[in-house]
Amino acid sequence: MTSIHAFWLAGRQTTGETTLDVTSPWDGRLVGKAAVPTDAQVEEAVAAAYAVRDEFAATPAHVRAAALDHVSRRLVERTEEIAQLISAENGKPIKWARGEVGRAVSVFRFAAEEARRFNGGEAQRLDTDAGGQGRLAFTRRFSKGVVLGIAPFNFPLNLCAHKIAPAIAVGTPIILKPAPATPLSGLLIGELLAETELPAGSWSVLPVANEKMPALVQDERLPVISFTGSDKVGYAIMDSVPRKHCTLELGGNGAAVVLGDFSTEADLDWVAARVATFSNYQGGQSCISVQRVIADASVYDRLLPKIVEAVGGQVTGDPSDPKTDVGPLVNEDAAKRVESWVDEAVQAGAQLLTGGKRDGATYAPTVLADVPADVTIACEEVFGPVMTVTKVDGEQAAYDAVNDSKYGLQAGVFTHDLQTAFRAHRALEVGGVVIGDAPSYRADQMPYGGVKQSGVGREGVRFAMDDYTYERVMVLTGIEL
Ligand code: SIN
Repeated sequence: MTSIHAFWLAGRQTTGETTLDVTSPWDGRLVGKAAVPTDAQVEEAVAAAYAVRDEFAATPAHVRAAALDHVSRRLVERTEEIAQLISAENGKPIKWARGEVGRAVSVFRFAAEEARRFNGGEAQRLDTDAGGQGRLAFTRRFSKGVVLGIAPFNFPLNLCAHKIAPAIAVGTPIILKPAPATPLSGLLIGELLAETELPAGSWSVLPVANEKMPALVQDERLPVISFTGSDKVGYAIMDSVPRKHCTLELGGNGAAVVLGDFSTEADLDWVAARVATFSNYQGGQSCISVQRVIADASVYDRLLPKIVEAVGGQVTGDPSDPKTDVGPLVNEDAAKRVESWVDEAVQAGAQLLTGGKRDGATYAPTVLADVPADVTIACEEVFGPVMTVTKVDGEQAAYDAVNDSKYGLQAGVFTHDLQTAFRAHRALEVGGVVIGDAPSYRADQMPYGGVKQSGVGREGVRFAMDDYTYERVMVLTGIEL
């Protein structure tokens, strides 16, 4: 019999009246049943979070840091089991699932380290003007209020970690809602947090049904919303609560620029290997996967066959097999959508160089060239294992092509030249530029987020901590400076 994965209501293991079936995108088997909270249970969690605000803010840093370190250690101890769970519920190849657990280990560890040094306070002398003589401003950061964290399916463990660990680090309560397709990894974080001494109510993990979310989003006791997911849903949330603080980590159509100085055989082999891997990791279901390769005309003809070969070499199949590079998408509908976008591009004149086939929820790693600028795949986030390759003349044309998008999350620029790197950093309208590698590189401590329709605000442990808090100044008078 399949066990029921309880949810975590104010830190307490609880079941509701209904459950949600979680099935494997690979073979449709039942992975587990997630207990779903009733409206009354959701209300209980929100009320508890709201009530514990002051107590949690006053919890000493060493207690919060110890809890975060504990979760980090337990993730290490249970790595293999958790990786299997991620792979089963999400369809992510096991090697990438193991990598995701490793990243979550770091997120909790970084949060523990940041909790110990956060909010040291900053003093500013005010006697720089005569009116401020004898005055000192002292600034500390305080919580904006209880966080509602809404996590996506594509990194079911680590993107939950990115919501919850910074909240604990700053001592602000959080209600975390994992994605309905992949709630089990988020619930497992609850299991590890329940082993700590954090105050009851300071965290809850609730697989609330999507249709129940508008009421929760409106709840005034939850003034901070941290959402990762599609731009459509993200902006609908923000528009529905314009006075709340919303952090939105939305889509992207990551570009990898290959400039003329990156031209030796070894250079182009590196580019091909990297873009092939990061167009297809997790079936391309990452906001920073490589969707667009924009190559200078001087290297394009030699690069393209290398890319096609590298993409063709990606091993598609059972996500539990360590040799598998590319597993299924989250469900068959997602694969059908990708298929229809590729078909549309091909009908409009794009060249299909490899891939272009669907088998259930699995879509073959695909390369398209000569893609007309107005087809869907050239304009929208594909969130699937497809890349387009475009030839451009010169550096500026490459940057213009990257910026010719409604998204702006991350970009990769393959160049050896430091001056070029700085020019790219200045020219590209994105939240992050990676020099010498694909746009898909993310270190969990660095600021992460986009511009344009890729969202607002930043995650990355320390940056989410800033985002959950605000500066409150205290002016001291009569001070001998
Ligand atoms: C995302 O898809 O936005 C997350 C990417 C990552 O954490 O690597």
